[in-house]
Amino acid sequence: MTLLRIDSSIQGPRSASSELADLAVAEFAANLPDETVVKRHLGTDPLPAEAWATAIAGAFTPAEDRSAAQQQAIELANSLAQELRDADAAVFAFPLYNYGVSQHVKTWIDLALAGGVHGERLLDGKPVVLLTTRGGAYGPGTPREGWDHNTAYLVRILADIWGANVTVIEREFTLVGVNPALDEFTELAALLKKTAHEAAVAAGKALATR
Ligand SMILES: Cc1cc2nc3c(=O)[nH]c(=O)nc-3n(C[C@H](O)[C@H](O)[C@H](O)COP(=O)(O)O)c2cc1C
Repeated sequence: MTLLRIDSSIQGPRSASSELADLAVAEFAANLPDETVVKRHLGTDPLPAEAWATAIAGAFTPAEDRSAAQQQAIELANSLAQELRDADAAVFAFPLYNYGVSQHVKTWIDLALAGGVHGERLLDGKPVVLLTTRGGAYGPGTPREGWDHNTAYLVRILADIWGANVTVIEREFTLVGVNPALDEFTELAALLKKTAHEAAVAAGKALATR
């Protein structure tokens, strides 16, 4: 069995989403120590931002006329789609930045879509744990309800386009303790952190024992 882990935080060792992925993958590995975990980090090793447009241009160009850059971009797109096909399960740590999906994750999605056959369900029926973190809180009744333009988009791609069986684990208010304006939410943030961490461990175990 191959577990694919993809991180995307731009915050290195301070990452709350990678902390959740660490918990999930550690629990998976504790239960299935001999299985393969393939890792990719879109935050520390970003995919080239121009590769998607180059791959699309290459796809519209007869193979014998493609530039080296177009051929390379197509090969990159194909390899990302293949990485998804090869996975039996996945853990994705995709936080919210600037109210939306990170550009690194969007580039990865665009390239993987370009590398698959049109409409291909690259994760069909596979269990995927989507871990997402946010500095603020955007739930019902909050002043910025609906401003999270990350999570629903990711579920759309993973579940509806790629066919994955997605478990979403969210941790809000990660900026409590960092931004003093949020100090009144200290207790709630601690509870949300504990709940998310427990859910990540449970999800890692579920991946290993399904
Ligand atoms: C450049 C930048 C932009 C951010 N934009 C938002 C935002 O729009 N909304 C929000 O709630 N938090 C925002 N945050 C806070 C992150 O969502 C928060 O730090 C979260 O924990 C990120 O996941 P990570 O810790 O795995 O990097 C932003 C953080 C950074 C560094």
